[in-house]
Amino acid sequence: MSTIDYSQKIPNNVNLGEDRTLQRALEGWQPNFIHWWDDVGPEGSTNFDVYLRTAVSVDPQGWAQFGHVKMRDYRWGIFLNPGDANRQVHFGDHKGEKAWQDVPGEHRANLRRIIVTQGDTEPASVEQQRHLGLTAPSMYDLRNLFQINVEEGRHLWAMVYLLHKHFGRDGREEAEALLQRTSGDQDNPRILGAFNEKTPDWLAFFMFTYFTDRDGKFQLSALAESAFDPLARTTKFMLTEEAHHMFVGESGVSRVLSRTAAVMNELKTDDAARVRAAGAIDLGTIQRYLNFHYSVTIDLFGADQSSNAAIFYSSGLKGRYEEGKRDDDHQLKGQTYKVLEVVNGQLQEKEVPMLNALNEVLRDDFIKDSVAGVNRWNKVLEKAGIPTRLTVPHKAFNRQIGALAGIKMSPDGRVVNEVEWSAKKADWLPTPEDFAFVASLMGRVVDPGKFAGWIAPPVMGINRQPVDFDYVRFG
Ligand SMILES: [Fe+2]
Ligand SMILES: [Fe+2]
Repeated sequence: MSTIDYSQKIPNNVNLGEDRTLQRALEGWQPNFIHWWDDVGPEGSTNFDVYLRTAVSVDPQGWAQFGHVKMRDYRWGIFLNPGDANRQVHFGDHKGEKAWQDVPGEHRANLRRIIVTQGDTEPASVEQQRHLGLTAPSMYDLRNLFQINVEEGRHLWAMVYLLHKHFGRDGREEAEALLQRTSGDQDNPRILGAFNEKTPDWLAFFMFTYFTDRDGKFQLSALAESAFDPLARTTKFMLTEEAHHMFVGESGVSRVLSRTAAVMNELKTDDAARVRAAGAIDLGTIQRYLNFHYSVTIDLFGADQSSNAAIFYSSGLKGRYEEGKRDDDHQLKGQTYKVLEVVNGQLQEKEVPMLNALNEVLRDDFIKDSVAGVNRWNKVLEKAGIPTRLTVPHKAFNRQIGALAGIKMSPDGRVVNEVEWSAKKADWLPTPEDFAFVASLMGRVVDPGKFAGWIAPPVMGINRQPVDFDYVRFG
């Protein structure tokens, strides 16, 4: 069951060869995917041999194999976690019924929307990260960028498989549209806001993979609970890959902090201008990047109160994070949850039906998880004897979606007026000068074992290889 057939044009563990119509349809989509990759995928990478991991099994013990692969020849495929024939729906109105192997007619439109929305984020991030390879701070980092890019491409395959297999003609049209929307495009943008933002430099990339790939973790975890079993199985396997993406973000920011702290100690200064002059990124800039990426990412969870969220849960389409580990009735009728609302320009807590607040529940779970990593970043500063600490901004800071979009809030949770917002914005969010400064540090360092001056080397290499291993062969 768990071995993957690599003799097929499309590697898979779903017996694709037994469904000729589906196989032909997906083989028809495959060249369009490759065109998309060539057009907007990692710039200039086509002939690079990259030390990539490729899934060889969905067994949690030893699922991946590492080796140098030409980027263009990466074997994107369709991998689902093993199924359990007796699996039951474990939340919502259908709780206790057998999990669905096909899409029930009444949930078709909603499931399609959920799958398309998730699917759209995957190619979007590849587009956003397209130019970063040109300014990699090391060969090790370049390899990690490419690993994430190929896996986001595979996540697109995962969603396209579901669309082709379960949604007929509509599904095939949606699969084409996933290759047509483009991140940041005026006329045909990606669906969600954060996926139309630029990822202009490597600090933005590390913040993105820390926060926005973590949004991916929480969305995929909620979908891994779905009553629609193929969706649950495919998202479970995607989560296996996602862990590395968040690692790249967390360790990337840690290494930036560690370099900054070393420069501050050398110069015995906390003056941003002196830190910058020495070629490191000052802590103020790092905090402003954090504020930006955190706030646009928490918007991805959607409106704080949402009747769609209630419908998705009650119909069994999307659960909560770790639904199976919670000890309530898994139906949530009559339960309440506290959300924030704006009354007379001030924030107030309000109890609302929990079913309507499930976006907020997932956002709060995300926030807890995010804060834990920020505390680990602060350990780097603490160890270096630097008194400054990074913090996540208030939940209402810089929000564009939901009730909190109607208020201006400082990062530390004070309601501010337009005048103060305009005056302080440059302290709270990255400025054009910040972007220009970070951009000025972005050279290209790709000799094995060499690192740009604004980032410390990692503690260890990939797959127990040394840090100075030739992760990318430029051919
Ligand atoms: Fe992904
Ligand atoms: Fe990811």
